[in-house]
Parts: sequence; structure tokens; C-alpha cells
Amino acid sequence: MQGSPEPRPLDFARGLPRKQETSDTHMATPTPRPSTSNGPVTFQRQGDVCVVTIDNPPVNALGVDVRRGLAAAIDAAEADSGAKAVLIVGAGRNFIAGADIREFGQAPQQPSLPEVCLKIENCTKPVIAAIHGAALGGGLEIALSAHYRLAAPTAKLGLPEVALGLLPGSGGTQRAPRLIGVKPALELMLSGRHAGAKEALSLGLVDRLGTEADARAEGLAYAQERVAANAPVRRTREATGLADKDAARAALDAARADTAKKSRGLFSPMKIIEAVEGALTLPFDEGMALERQLFLQCIDSPQRAGLIHAFFAEREVLKAPETRSATPRALTSAGIVGGGTMGAGIAVAMLDAGLPVTMVERDDTQLARGRANVEKVYDGLIAKGRMTPEAKAAVMARFSGSTSYDAFANVDIVVEAVFEEMGVKKAVFAELDRVCKKGAVLATNTSYLDIDEIAASISRPQDVVGLHFFSPANIMKLLEIVVPAKVSADVVATGFELAKKLKKVPVRAGVCDGFIGNRILAVYRQAADHMMEDGASPYDIDAAVRNFGYPMGPFQVSDLAGGDIGWATRKRKAATRDPQARYVQVADRICERGWFGQKTQRGYYLYPEGARTGVPDPEVLAIIDAERVRAGITPRTFTEEEIMRRYMAAMVNEGANVVLQRIALRPLDVDVTFLYGYGFPRHRGGPMKYADTVGLPKVLADIREFAKEDPIFWKPSPLLVELVERGADFASLNQSE
Ligand code: 3HC
Ligand code: NAI
Repeated sequence: MQGSPEPRPLDFARGLPRKQETSDTHMATPTPRPSTSNGPVTFQRQGDVCVVTIDNPPVNALGVDVRRGLAAAIDAAEADSGAKAVLIVGAGRNFIAGADIREFGQAPQQPSLPEVCLKIENCTKPVIAAIHGAALGGGLEIALSAHYRLAAPTAKLGLPEVALGLLPGSGGTQRAPRLIGVKPALELMLSGRHAGAKEALSLGLVDRLGTEADARAEGLAYAQERVAANAPVRRTREATGLADKDAARAALDAARADTAKKSRGLFSPMKIIEAVEGALTLPFDEGMALERQLFLQCIDSPQRAGLIHAFFAEREVLKAPETRSATPRALTSAGIVGGGTMGAGIAVAMLDAGLPVTMVERDDTQLARGRANVEKVYDGLIAKGRMTPEAKAAVMARFSGSTSYDAFANVDIVVEAVFEEMGVKKAVFAELDRVCKKGAVLATNTSYLDIDEIAASISRPQDVVGLHFFSPANIMKLLEIVVPAKVSADVVATGFELAKKLKKVPVRAGVCDGFIGNRILAVYRQAADHMMEDGASPYDIDAAVRNFGYPMGPFQVSDLAGGDIGWATRKRKAATRDPQARYVQVADRICERGWFGQKTQRGYYLYPEGARTGVPDPEVLAIIDAERVRAGITPRTFTEEEIMRRYMAAMVNEGANVVLQRIALRPLDVDVTFLYGYGFPRHRGGPMKYADTVGLPKVLADIREFAKEDPIFWKPSPLLVELVERGADFASLNQSE
């Protein structure tokens, strides 16, 4: 036992309610002895079973204290002649969620998790793991090191390390294939998905299914049964899942080919395959050494840092000030104004979340079109076999339409998605002010318009909020919650609550032209246009952006969204544009020809016969050449690296301005916006995390260099300058508000 073997009293200071959840009131037999606590791990003999409980809120992550406590508990059980078996359980809602992710990248502390797993596996008394809730990553690896496993109906088991840029690093790559075979083990590790209790049983990951949620009681009964049967210890490293070498080899080859195709640029998936191959070709101890070596390579990879940043950032965005200070209003029914692209998508998102939805349109024809837009989504699912006609009918029973605003008299929330014109929006809000019940949340999906002005135009500005969905609104995860000056905190909190219901990722944004995402997009899109006029083709730029990790480049996105939308915005803003600022006219020349992208079979690319993937268009290149001549520019070449330096510098600089002006609360809010709304590669963590990785002095030096050519466009953000002067980074601003 590590430290003192003296039993210490149970630690009542922490997590009392959780102690009650797993208290002995569930136990029929036998009388428990006093518990011994070792920080977050307590052990207590019940009859001849030593029950080891991990109680490390919120999710029983395997931090250093848990590892020490587990090791000590196994030592104590070995030393206790009265203990004939060991039961490991988790307190609270989970067994163990895995290694403590916050420890990665810090100095390692002993004992390591592989050592703890080995100690469990080497225990001379049968060890039983009783799993409820999450047994993920290192949590499942602890369970795999036990000799017998029981899963409660709530259990979810998985090896999701790949999502963090890692591989299972505590024997998972060696034990899982031996237990369940290479193919299913690889599938779990490469997908990172969670398997439910029944599936875990059929895979052979667990030996028995529990019948109720009380894993501790059922685990204890299972352990007592093992003792009564004189069951031997049964070590996973001796399991026979690798007996069929040919099948194992074929599974490895198939996974390698598939991963090469699908995991473009990701580091850890191939390392996972390499480690699992070690299970096939090496003795266990050598396989473990290989796994450790590959795990450390993953730990050192910048992708690990980016992915773990993304993991925490997407949880931090939920902690906006209003979600802490206010209680959301009721959310049991919704109204949508407008049944176009966005209104229909938002209606589907609401219906999918189980809400009844009322849509209001201008007239019967538009209403029928709005309804058809909604039905089209479900018909698509039916065509793909992902929905039955009966299920569609059940969903559509919750949908109603009207051409009268009076239909909104009783709804809890209305989202407006009509044309992007201030006059039209204000007229709609006047109607909402007239008909909606007191306390209804009145939301606008505007992309750019001043929500303070919309709010000020009605009698209840405290109820007006921006809910900026992204297209297609039923699919895209991002929801910008735009907070005007007069809105009440509980309305903002209701926006976050709605996001949760819709399974979206909410980011709090302030009011400005384009909020967080579109405002920053407008700037780096201009940087791309400048490069296009200076000599890079749109195809070069798209390729560089894709090779950086985006699914599409900016010109492909423009073709997908439709060039006419941006064209209309540019025309609207022409009068207020700084005449000194550089303005690239290529997009206007393309739109003037009626080439709006995919929907017209032509934009920056050609889309022969409605193809979704475009091919380069020599006529577009000729237009660009002509524009260069008109602007007096001699084209030069750009390397991919130069393209990305400019693209990212523009994005990061505007990101810094957005944080400085409190449009985004923290740099991480910008990161999450780009990860979930703009296809930013997750393994880079988001633009602000990327800037920290590159180094802010380098980004600032780039901007200053580019400013020599165009000082109006390239103005270093005062926040960036200040951080560089202080030797600080964006991460230092990421503490929760
Ligand atoms: N380490 C540290 N903190 C963790 C954590 C972990 N493994 N898992 C969750 N947390 C934290 C979250 O950051 C959050 O903190 P906050 O309240 O301060 O924001 C809190 O626990 C609750 O998490 P969720 O909000 O995600 O809670 P849910 O109930 O929605 O989900 C869960 C629970 C399914 C366990 C989910 O948290 C999860 O998927 N966690 C990560 C699991 C994982 O990736 N495990 C593998 C880790 S790597 C590993 O084990 C390496 C090993 O092979 C060596
Ligand atoms: P759209 O043109 O497809 O749909 C607008 C709908 O509003 C039409 O069906 C129209 O009949 C209806 N409408 C107009 N005036 C109305 C009124 N007074 N009462 C009731 N219905 C009325 O437009 P889209 O693309 O759906 O955009 C809607 C809003 O969403 C705009 O504010 C836009 O800026 C915003 N937005 C658009 C995104 C996109 O990718 N299209 C993304 C995010 C926000």
C-alpha cells in the first residue's frame, strides 16, 4: 500500500450526496466493515469482498490521486487475508470517464495508469469491475485489467482517445484485441464510439449484464458468486482473441487502407493500428512497451493539444454569465416566421427536438412552399431508409402553418427568418409585439443586421435576442446567441437552453456587423480575394485551405452558398465602403454573368450537369487575368505556405479584435465558432489556438510585413500587440468569466 496502511476515516467533506447514492442501503448482505479512504478512492470489506469505490467528481477521471488510491486499495486487498475477491465500482453517474485529460502535457506523476492496470491484472484474487455510466478510455482499460466484468444497463463503454489525438495508452491496444479480436477492437478505437451494455456483452467486452442501475449491489453479488465458485483469476492478456492470425492480419490491412483514405492528416489513427499490430506480432510486455512509445508520440503531437483544447472549449462556451445568473424561461412550443432556407431548417431542428412548431408566412403560396421545404427534409430521410413514413407523419402532426400572426398567441419562443432587410424585420417584430404572450422570447436569425435597432423598435426590448443558426439549420451544430444591450439575462439563458434541446453548440456573441463568425469571415475572405488578384488562382487557394484541413476552400463554399447573396450585400454596402480600401471586383464580374455557383452550374468552378464537385473554369481564370490588367497588377506566385500565412493572419487578427471589443467573451469562443460553423480543422483547435501554436510574435510579424503593401487592410489588432508585448498568449484570456 502506498503511504500509510493505517485505515483512515471516510472523507465526508466531499460528494456527500454521491456517497448516499451508492450507500450500503442497497446491500442485502453482509454487514460492511469500516471504510478506508485513500483520497478519492475508498475501500471497505463486505464479507469476503473488498469493495473499492472511486469517487472523484465530476466523472471519476483517473487523476494521480485516483491512481495512487487504486494501487493502495489493491495492495490492501492482497494483504487482507479475509478478502477473497475485489470489486471496483464508481460513485456517482459513471464508472470512470478515463484518464484525467487535464494532466496531459504536464509532468508525469507516479504511478502511471499502465502500472495501475498491471497491478490490477496481476492481483492474485479475482477482481471484478461493475460498470455503470461511462467506462471510457482509461476507464475501460481499468475494467479490461480486471478479471470479470459486469455492465449495468446504463453502461457505455468505449476507447475514444482518437478524438483527443491519442491512442488507448494503458494496455487498451493490447488487451482489447486479445479479448474481443482485432476487427471489433480496431473499430472501437478508430471510431471512438461508445458501445451500450448489450453490445458490450455481445462483443465479449463484458461477461454479464446487470438488470438494474445499481451496479454496486449487482457487482457485489457477482463477486460473491465468483468466490463461492472458487473462480480463478482470469487475465485478459492471456485471452485468445488473436488465435485466428489470418483474420487479424486481414482486419489490420483493411483498417490501414480505410484509415489512409478517411483520416486525412490525422496522426493518431495510424498509430492505433501500429499499436494493435504489436498485439499480434509481439509478446504482451513488448506490445505494452510499443503502445507506450506510440502513446508518447501522440501526447507530443500538436494535434493532441488542438483536440484537447477543442474538448474543453466546447464545454466552456456553455458557461456564459447569463447561464449562471438566470433561469431559462419555459420552452414548450415554438413559432417560426418565414419558411425559406433558414426558416424551414430551423423548423426541422425544433421538430426534431420534440417541440410543436407553428410557421407563419406571407401568403398561402409561400406557406405551402415553407411546409414543402420542411417535408423535403423528411422525404430525403425516407428515401435513404433513415425514417419511416409513419414517423414522418408523427413529426408533421406537430407542425402547423398560418398566414396570421395570431397563431403565435401562445408560443413560448418565436424565431424570425424573413428577408435580410431592416424594414421587413421591424414590421415582423411589430406584429410579434402585438400578438405574442407576455414573456415570450422573440428571436431574430439575422446574419448582419443591428439587433439593438430591432429591439428598440418594439415595446419589449428585454425579450429580443439573436439566434443565429447556420445553413442547413437542422444539421449545422453552431448557434450564435447574440446578446443585445437591453435583453434580460433569462432570455439569453433560454437561448442556451434551446441550444441544448436542439443538440447545438451555443456561443455567446455581441451585436456587431456579422457577430463573431461572419464578421471574421468577411475579413479573411477579403485576404483570399487579394491573393487571387495578386496571382494565386481560386483553385490554388482552395487547395491550400483544404490541405490545411478544411473540408472545402472559400471559393468552393461561395459556390455552394450561392454567389448572389454576397453580391447583394456588396451592392448594399457599396456606398459606405472606404474608397481608399482595396476592392477586388472578380466576384462581381462572375455574378454579372449570372454565375452564382452550384445552383447555376457555374461559379468559380464549372458544375457540368449538376455535379456537386466543380472543375476549374478557364473562363474564370481569364476574367481574373483581365481584372489584374485593369487593376495594374503584375501577378506573382504564392506557395501554399504563403497563402495560409495570409489567410490565417487575417482570421486571427480579426478574431483578436472581436475579443477586444467583447463581441466574443474569450478567444475560445472564437475557436468554437469556427470549429462548429465554418469547418475549421478540429485537430488545430480553432484559429486562436492555432495562433498560440504558431506563436503570437510570428503572427504579428506577418501582419506587419503584409501591412507594408496594404496598411489599410493589415492593421495589427491592439490586443495582439498587447499580448505580444506582455509575452502572453490567447490561452491566458480563456479563463471562464
Ligand atoms: N478528464 C478530466 N475532466 C473530464 C474528463 C476527463 N476524462 N471527462 C469529463 N471531464 C469534465 C468535463 O470537462 C466537465 O468539466 P466542467 O464541468 O468543469 O466543464 C465535466 O467533467 C463533466 O463532463 P461533461 O459535461 O462532458 O459531462 P457529460 O455527463 O455530458 O458526459 C462523459 C460525461 C461522457 C464522460 C464525457 O465527459 C466524456 O466523454 N468525457 C471524456 C471521455 C474520454 O475521452 N476519455 C478518454 C480520456 S483519454 C484516456 O483515457 C487515455 C488513456 O488511454 C491512457
Ligand atoms: P429565404 O429568402 O430563403 O427565406 C425568407 C422567407 O421569408 C421567404 O420564404 C419569405 O416568403 C418569407 N418572408 C418574407 N417576409 C415575410 C413576412 N413579412 N412574413 C412572413 N414571411 C416572410 O431567406 P433565408 O436564406 O432563409 O434567410 C432568412 C434570414 O436568415 C435572413 O435574415 C438571413 O440573413 C438569415 N440567415 C441566412 C443564412 C443562409 O445561409 N441563407 C444563414 C444564417 C442566417
